[in-house]
Amino acid sequence: MQKAFDIGLDSLFAHKDAATPESCFIADAPQRGTFYLETFGCQMNEHDSEKVAGVLLSRGYRQVDSVEAASFILYNTCSIREKAAQKVFSRLGELRETSSEPKKIGVLGCVAQQEGEKIFHRSPWVNLVCGSASYSKLPELLEQLEAGEKRVTGLDTDTDETFETELTRRDNPWRAYLTIIEGCDKACSYCVVPFTRGPERSRSSDSILRELRQLADLGYTEVQFLGQTVNSYADPSSRKMKFSELLRAAAEMPGMRRVRFTTSHPRDFGRDIVEAIESNDRICNHVHLPVQSGSTRVLRTMQRTYSRDEYLEKIAMIHESKKHIAITSDIIVGFPGETEREFDETLGLMEAVKYEGIFAFKYSPRPNTPAQSMADAIPEEEKSRRLAILLELQRKIQTEANEKLVGDFFEVHVEGKSRRENQWSGHTSCYRVVNFSSPQSDLLGSYVPVKVNSATPNCLIGEHAP
Ligand code: 5AD
Ligand code: SF4
Repeated sequence: MQKAFDIGLDSLFAHKDAATPESCFIADAPQRGTFYLETFGCQMNEHDSEKVAGVLLSRGYRQVDSVEAASFILYNTCSIREKAAQKVFSRLGELRETSSEPKKIGVLGCVAQQEGEKIFHRSPWVNLVCGSASYSKLPELLEQLEAGEKRVTGLDTDTDETFETELTRRDNPWRAYLTIIEGCDKACSYCVVPFTRGPERSRSSDSILRELRQLADLGYTEVQFLGQTVNSYADPSSRKMKFSELLRAAAEMPGMRRVRFTTSHPRDFGRDIVEAIESNDRICNHVHLPVQSGSTRVLRTMQRTYSRDEYLEKIAMIHESKKHIAITSDIIVGFPGETEREFDETLGLMEAVKYEGIFAFKYSPRPNTPAQSMADAIPEEEKSRRLAILLELQRKIQTEANEKLVGDFFEVHVEGKSRRENQWSGHTSCYRVVNFSSPQSDLLGSYVPVKVNSATPNCLIGEHAP
């Protein structure tokens, strides 16, 4: 993935102190073998994998961290762009070459949904193919595999169920993901998600708040609400809680210090969300609001359901807030038919919004999507040229913005510890990465004030403030 602003955990020093898979073994479940689970793609996939691991652990499997040590190998796959989808087939190829003893192999997630039973033809050594909309059936599918069936599938998408489990094996000991809405009902012309993840299904507000309370009881202080279009949340229960009300209720949960949410869709983004952020410091002042393009014509062919001006109205609403709210975005360059002028409109929009971070992608044609057969494909080299220009501009915007923060103080949630002595890392509420020094020990998981001494385009550097 091409990134101009690293807002991911990969920039942190990893969670060396996190609970290991071994420690999550459920002692009184029947012992069924070992599993290795590798995840590709977005945070939704990462969190799905945490839940899949929970299902396997509660059935008596033990998680291991290598293919060699596993009797059951699972890949949770991503097909958002061609390159991501190819990765899993190369993994499956490697498995055939390296594996001498019989192992069970499962393909989960978006490639599973997209390719379906074709995966069995291409890689006959695969035993399980299951898309995310069928994960609630995983226990039954596993039972079939355990009974000796060679090929098992879960490929329905016409479900109104969400994937909820008794046990979720979370990777991060401080920040918990919590999916509040699955699937997507938008129909962006370039995107596979509506095919691979099925229609929108929201969880009831009661069940979300119940899980949040459990998370607080377990010691989590930060939650990240997830959804492909998180702010399209529609409470299916009679309570009919609006998304912004859910944010407010979550922020009131004793023990919770930070409530995040991603990804917001511009069409469903209203003033009530800004007001919720203003109302409570525990609701993080960061909105990920992908624009995709700065040209109204391109947005129309992308079927994004808003124009450049309508998007900028939403931005103005955020910029006018009495609180500083960081805005980040996703942008696609080289969509079919995108002219040089239209690309310039995207650059102009970036100058106007001054995103604090972006994820930028070269358009990649995807199966089953309307854009796949659109005329005027942009040559690969031209896409690369546009991407490089865009990233350079974003680098300049971030450098300027971050340098202005030198001398400021931020509260940092400490999530990583460097091998270098006294060096720590974490995020601000607005999701900036901060690396800082502190002579104190045991800072992991705590919230500390940090004074910013210098800045790079991708992070702030500072020291523990008194
Ligand atoms: N090509 C390139 N980027 C894509 N995205 C989604 N589909 C495609 C595609 N076919 C990007 C969008 C989306 C992000 C998750 O991935 O920017 O917001
Ligand atoms: Fe894909 Fe558009 Fe849905 Fe996002 S809103 S998941 S880009 S279809």
